[in-house]
Amino acid sequence: MKHMLFQLLGTVSFFCVVISNGVFGQEKLPSPQLTKEIEIGRGLTEIERECISCHAKEEPGKVHDWSNSLHARSTVTCLDCHRAELTDKDARDCPGTEKYRDIKISPVVTPLDCSKCHPFEEKQFSQSKHARTFAIQTADIKDPWLKGMNNEIERATGCYVCHGSDITTGELTVENWPNVGCGRGNPDGSHGSCVMCHTTHRFNIAEARKPETCGQCHLGPDHPQDEIYFESKHGKRYLAEHNEWNFNAGPDLWEPSEDFTAPTCAACHMSGLGPLATTHNVGERLKWEAERPLTILNKDFDGGKAREQMVEVCTQCHSPRWAKNYLERYDLAIENYNENYFKPVKVIMDDLYAQNLLTKWPMFDEEIEWAFYEFWHHEGRRARMGSAMMGPDYSWWHGFYDLKKTYQHIVKLAEEAKENGHGSPVFVPGSGGKNLTTDNVDDLPEGWNKVKNLKGRLPR
Ligand code: HEC
Ligand code: HEC
Ligand code: HEC
Ligand code: HEC
Ligand code: HEC
Ligand code: HEC
Ligand code: HEC
Ligand code: HEC
Repeated sequence: MKHMLFQLLGTVSFFCVVISNGVFGQEKLPSPQLTKEIEIGRGLTEIERECISCHAKEEPGKVHDWSNSLHARSTVTCLDCHRAELTDKDARDCPGTEKYRDIKISPVVTPLDCSKCHPFEEKQFSQSKHARTFAIQTADIKDPWLKGMNNEIERATGCYVCHGSDITTGELTVENWPNVGCGRGNPDGSHGSCVMCHTTHRFNIAEARKPETCGQCHLGPDHPQDEIYFESKHGKRYLAEHNEWNFNAGPDLWEPSEDFTAPTCAACHMSGLGPLATTHNVGERLKWEAERPLTILNKDFDGGKAREQMVEVCTQCHSPRWAKNYLERYDLAIENYNENYFKPVKVIMDDLYAQNLLTKWPMFDEEIEWAFYEFWHHEGRRARMGSAMMGPDYSWWHGFYDLKKTYQHIVKLAEEAKENGHGSPVFVPGSGGKNLTTDNVDDLPEGWNKVKNLKGRLPR
């Protein structure tokens, strides 16, 4: 990697970006906030200069960020990232490129574009669940919402912001753009956007190492890793001391004690601490898949090896006994959830479906289906993730405690269903969403709110 970059730096003639108070390329800048001058040296082509100087007027914030980046210092310019092949599906002109017949640009910059210079990061990222999330949701999990239980605008403002939208056709619409979700379907066939962790146009490593970056998506009732982190001792240390930490150490050189005293999300899941190499596949150090209804061993990696790597992380700061005991305690929490909570409740649900007391499709048209969904998807995940990442309040009060309560509720609703000959129906407002999965299901009726579920389904 290092070798490659030096080569790259060697091939472009050296130039420097001098930042001082003043003006940009002799022209007055429109915005007072950009009181810095960028003196472009040799090594930039005429057109590369044009992009920068015109956009410095159009979008001073962007150019300012870029000019403060390692990219600018290494003469990686707008064109390096935004240039499109004439045949690219997303190729287009901007007002500055119309006069050139052979130059097209695109606002879409994909992991493949970055891979020209960062091939290893791209490869690891593309194999991660972050990049593969669309296939996981539709082909593997067949998420009920994406089968048609919610509509495109609900997905565009929710699911897709975190999971990524579909821009494979190159057409950028109100619904699919802007979007920098983790598994976005790109026009060049790649998935995701590196911007989910490295925001434009600084692309700095320090930002990605901080927990707030991950907390953008990893929060809320169903995956409160952000909340858990900030209630843990590690998070408390981060809050108390991170102003004194050094987040700018080079890749693989960011080490406990020298640079920081407690781990962030990235430190445990990605950074190259001690003998570990940095990874852009966040699944590499996980033994379990605890986001699932029934927890299973990590399907992408050997769970045992993954655990060894995580222990290696902890033992940069803790003794092996401290680390191993803590993680084995997590394994017991997983077993407790699987055996004492999920499996017995699944038996109750399967039994109701088998007896035709509930409709299999649509989902969420009976109260017990909501209760069961929250049981594993919200409460069960909270119990497991609180136990994995030192968040006792999530493990118990928002976790196992809630599981006990909802378990009772499910048992009660199941008894009612048996008495009445059908589960208690509920009103599901709005829908009309397309089925994005490979499942063969009936489309939900237009105006789902008018269907007779409102009054209740007749017993069979
Ligand atoms: C003469 C001024 C000018 C020059 C030169 C110029 N641009 Fe633009 N560019 C604009 C303006 C104005 C917009 C926004 C209006 C629009 O999108 O139609 C824009 C939009 C863009 C966008 C966003 C397009 C979108 O659809 O969201 C990108 C990316 C871009 N330019 C890149 C470049 C690159 C790369 C170059 C150099 C090859 C360049 N621009 C040269 C003025 C310029
Ligand atoms: C290292 C690669 C890289 C460089 C260099 C770069 N960009 Fe970008 N730019 C991106 C990425 C990534 C996005 C986000 C789009 C995406 O997720 O596909 C983006 C988005 C944009 C957008 C559209 C988003 C918005 O907020 O309107 C514009 C316009 C843009 N860049 C202009 C520029 C200009 C002008 C320069 C040069 C000063 C530049 N970019 C340099 C990677 C780059
Ligand atoms: C034309 C080559 C090129 C392209 C394309 C490119 N980069 Fe870079 N990138 C570099 C160079 C050169 C450096 C500086 C490396 C160094 O100093 O070690 C760098 C550094 C980085 C860093 C580390 C910054 C830091 O603070 O240490 C990140 C993160 C990064 N790039 C992300 C991206 C992303 C994301 C994209 C695509 C949107 C991208 N790069 C596209 C060449 C490129
Ligand atoms: C706030 C961001 C966010 C929103 C909004 C969001 N998700 Fe997620 N989703 C996540 C995160 C983060 C995970 C990973 C949880 C984990 O691994 O602990 C996840 C996990 C999943 C999974 C499990 C994938 C697996 O590997 O088992 C599915 C399926 C899913 N989401 C579908 C959806 C759908 C469909 C929607 C909209 C109805 C949605 N999500 C809305 C962030 C989000
Ligand atoms: C899940 C968040 C996340 C995503 C997505 C992500 N990065 Fe990173 N990236 C990081 C973190 C965290 C680091 C710093 C690791 C460390 O502590 O050394 C980093 C470091 C880097 C570096 C510095 C060199 C290195 O490998 O450590 C480059 C270059 C880079 N990323 C490029 C990319 C590119 C290109 C993509 C898209 C293919 C990408 N990143 C996607 C979080 C992310
Ligand atoms: C743009 C939203 C977003 C951001 C930002 C984000 N993630 Fe994720 N993350 C997701 C989603 C969505 C999933 C679930 C993917 C799936 O399984 O379908 C996920 C899954 C994961 C997983 C589980 C992977 C596996 O193989 O089971 C880990 C660990 C993770 N993320 C860590 C991080 C870390 C660390 C950061 C910050 C450096 C981060 N994420 C930033 C959305 C995000
Ligand atoms: C002290 C180290 C540590 C820190 C800090 C940490 N995690 Fe974790 N994380 C773990 C461990 C350990 C697991 C469970 C690994 C296993 O499956 O064996 C885990 C599991 C996860 C999972 C996977 C849950 C699943 O679906 O199986 C996600 C997602 C995740 N962490 C995201 C984050 C995010 C986001 C942050 C920061 C807000 C964070 N982690 C901070 C150690 C850490
Ligand atoms: C960068 C150093 C560092 C790493 C890496 C690290 N920790 Fe910690 N950990 C700390 C510090 C500092 C504290 C607070 C020390 C104290 O209170 O004595 C702490 C506290 C803890 C606590 C006590 C929590 C409480 O509620 O008091 C546990 C448990 C723990 N760590 C487990 C782990 C595990 C498991 C891992 C690996 C997955 C890990 N740590 C990784 C630095 C680290």
